[in-house]
Amino acid sequence: MSKQFRIAPSILSANFAKLGQEVTDVIASGTDIVHFDVMDNHYVPNLTIGPLVCESLRPVTDAIIDVHLMVKPVDRIIPDFAKAGANIITFHPEASEHIDRTLALIRECGCKAGLVFNPATSLSYLDYVMDKVDMILLMSVNPGFGGQKFIPETLNKIRQVRARIDASGRDIWLEVDGGVKVDNIAEVARAGADVFVAGSAIFGASKDSDANRYDTVVAAMRAELAKA
Ligand code: DX5
Ligand code: ZN
Repeated sequence: MSKQFRIAPSILSANFAKLGQEVTDVIASGTDIVHFDVMDNHYVPNLTIGPLVCESLRPVTDAIIDVHLMVKPVDRIIPDFAKAGANIITFHPEASEHIDRTLALIRECGCKAGLVFNPATSLSYLDYVMDKVDMILLMSVNPGFGGQKFIPETLNKIRQVRARIDASGRDIWLEVDGGVKVDNIAEVARAGADVFVAGSAIFGASKDSDANRYDTVVAAMRAELAKA
């Protein structure tokens, strides 16, 4: 049975001066999910976009909007993102005082909930909440910036999470974020991921024809995934 793989372009690397068009183009190129990176210059040393931008993008696309919160505290911004049209909200467990409560809050707001693990964060946070997560996001770079190099030790962590998900019997998505490119996406898939965030690899693609700028790189990623 072939697995369903989803590609999630990270708009962190998009041109913010024409963000709506960027989202339309990148989804039209055959991607599935808008990965929306929220950074607060506190939990991570960078500052990006908030609920107002999510609200502006919502009418532009029917695609899933996947909000990756790199903020501390976490809880008070969740209802705002839910109202702004987010479909999935993930957060870093060490940025929340009460992980179980934060997961419940996200679901009460009508969104899918997920936990994000930095490269050196222990998976033990999952021990008591496996039935309360819809997605697990593994960072393959340290959070804060696009364009970093994939940390290879992540592959083993992906395998561990895949085993835990399979043992749970639940349809939990396993997303990987950071340094994913055409040349390593198949390896990430073989390790067990099914959602692939890619920022610089997609939005950094150069225009090589009059066709949609992102068609070539997304097709190359799909071809690699087909081999995985
Ligand atoms: C980093 C962000 C990522 C980032 C990925 O903290 O969470 O989503 O945009 O960018 P690339 O694909 O360029 O590593
Ligand atoms: Zn992200």
